[in-house]
Amino acid sequence: MSDANHAPVPPPLDDRDGTIWLDGRLVPWREARLHVLSHGLHYGGSVFEGERVYGGRVFKLHEHSLRLVASAREMGFALPWNADELDAATREVVAVAGLAEGYVRPVAWRGSDTLRLVARDSSVHVAIAAWPWPQVFASGPRGIRLRTSRWRRPAPDTAPVRAKTAALYALGSLAGQEAEEAGSDDALLLDHRGRLAEATGANLFLVVDGALHTPPPECVLDGITRRTVIALAHGLGLTVVERHLDPAELSRADEVFLTGTAYEVQPVTAVDALEYPIGEVTSALVEAYARTVREPSPDLTSEAAPAVASESG
Ligand SMILES: Cc1ncc(COP(=O)(O)O)c(C=O)c1O
Repeated sequence: MSDANHAPVPPPLDDRDGTIWLDGRLVPWREARLHVLSHGLHYGGSVFEGERVYGGRVFKLHEHSLRLVASAREMGFALPWNADELDAATREVVAVAGLAEGYVRPVAWRGSDTLRLVARDSSVHVAIAAWPWPQVFASGPRGIRLRTSRWRRPAPDTAPVRAKTAALYALGSLAGQEAEEAGSDDALLLDHRGRLAEATGANLFLVVDGALHTPPPECVLDGITRRTVIALAHGLGLTVVERHLDPAELSRADEVFLTGTAYEVQPVTAVDALEYPIGEVTSALVEAYARTVREPSPDLTSEAAPAVASESG
């Protein structure tokens, strides 16, 4: 549906043409279904990834596949496919869809063998779907406004914070909805101790006196974009400090930005009442990242994690 004042509304996600990879084979899009008594639906233990296609290639594909396998392990189940096999399946999905620019969503869940909470022998299913998806925020690189959420990222001994699991996204979903209802673009979550953590789907960076400061990935997701941007920052000669950040430090920051597969490098123009310009450092990283995702071999981070200065605080 569309008219002069409204952008076309895309069809719902279960009613599209194309194919989805499900448990080892491509099935018609509308037939990629799961049973209502699936364990993963009831107890939130599914794991997933969000990947971006640039120029027909999935950026950092192997890192995403490895993280999916690791997330499942963290949630107590083994995937029936290893990371290389997931890479190959993902490439097939993207190729069959003929996608040049898009988004890929791999997801894995325990099946409907039992609804016992403990489901050690349950079947495990994996699906991979891909579709065109330009940008999360209509404002694009013009920046977004954050609102501090009342919800906090849980402590590592309270929830499986290292896993990219649906269980944790209940919080992000609530926080994001409340932020939007209050007129912001996204929520900023603090951690269990009240320190700065991350947005609903992106890692947080502050620029202070030309250096980057970012929370360590203790109870925030160890973002693949975060790692890429840290490597790019080093390449630009910037200092990167991983340390715990107090919310009061937001008033000392010259620039603030987020990193994530969907967000890319996203400038933040406001956190609550504090306003930020889109400064030189953020702009340089926006550009460097946009170049890197389209380079033939942008694998800056696969083998070695970049050196990061570390402080506790
Ligand atoms: C909670 C959360 N933090 C951070 C990120 C950024 O991670 P990545 O750069 O791997 O997309 C994401 C996105 O997946 C996320 O959902």
